[in-house]
Amino acid sequence: MGQLREDGYHHLTTVFQAVSLYDEVTVTRSSSLTVTVEGEGADLVPPDQSNLAARAVELLAARSGHEARVAISIRKGIPVAGGCAGGSADAAAALVAADALWGTEWTRDQLAAAGAELGSDVPFALHGGTALGTGRGERLTPVLEQGTYSWVLALSSPGLSTPAVYAELDRQRCAGPVGLVPDPAEVLAALRQGDAAALGAALANDLQPAALALQPGLRSLLETARSIGALGAIVSGSGPTVAVLARDADHADSLAAALSARGWARVRRADGPVPGARVVEAR
Ligand code: C5P
Repeated sequence: MGQLREDGYHHLTTVFQAVSLYDEVTVTRSSSLTVTVEGEGADLVPPDQSNLAARAVELLAARSGHEARVAISIRKGIPVAGGCAGGSADAAAALVAADALWGTEWTRDQLAAAGAELGSDVPFALHGGTALGTGRGERLTPVLEQGTYSWVLALSSPGLSTPAVYAELDRQRCAGPVGLVPDPAEVLAALRQGDAAALGAALANDLQPAALALQPGLRSLLETARSIGALGAIVSGSGPTVAVLARDADHADSLAAALSARGWARVRRADGPVPGARVVEAR
């Protein structure tokens, strides 16, 4: 993680991997722009025009000469305020859906450029797979990789606000020297070799100390995950979700069960990489 930029964002270098946790976003013609949200954590997502999916549709409409008269319905499967880029995934899905509905036929690059105006992670949510993100996270380079990675995601409540975690990082840096995560060469080498153990050992996140300062209970979650045999465990994004890497799918199932047995009730299994936002059904 680099320094705070003049535009209020931080320079960063990050390796993104899309995993098999999904939100379903349905966009249909309507008399006006509406948003409904259901599923776990739905009450924390604004059901109005401030919703990132609504802003995505409005942006595409304005740029492509359409009227944003659609009903957007979001079924959440991605943890809300969890550091899992769920809002960005919804924006990406809404862009793809509205593009299909209106026959806009924008290229993926055009959609990604519009997405970057909505949030730093939206281009990756469109792209999917595994990618290196630079800039504020919106500039992507595909990553050479092999294999499938089996993850357990341990969810925590309450969520953490991304700007609050970045602000805590700045506060810690002002207070004194903090260790920096090295560039992701080891992570990239592990992915290239399909070596889950090496990936687990190389996992690191500059935002983790800030997330731990705001939610100290996460520390014991990370320690527990490692003590029961995880290849690695880190705070995902700005947290508070913790991503736990397993050897394979069976191992991930047993880690998930073991974490549940130790009191972490909200654990999810997910595998990666998976593709980014796409149309599942067009009617
Ligand atoms: O771009 P996005 O809306 O997802 O970012 C949410 C907030 O996270 C930003 O307003 C900013 O406070 C912080 N952020 C940052 N540096 C980044 C990405 C996000 O400081 N590279």
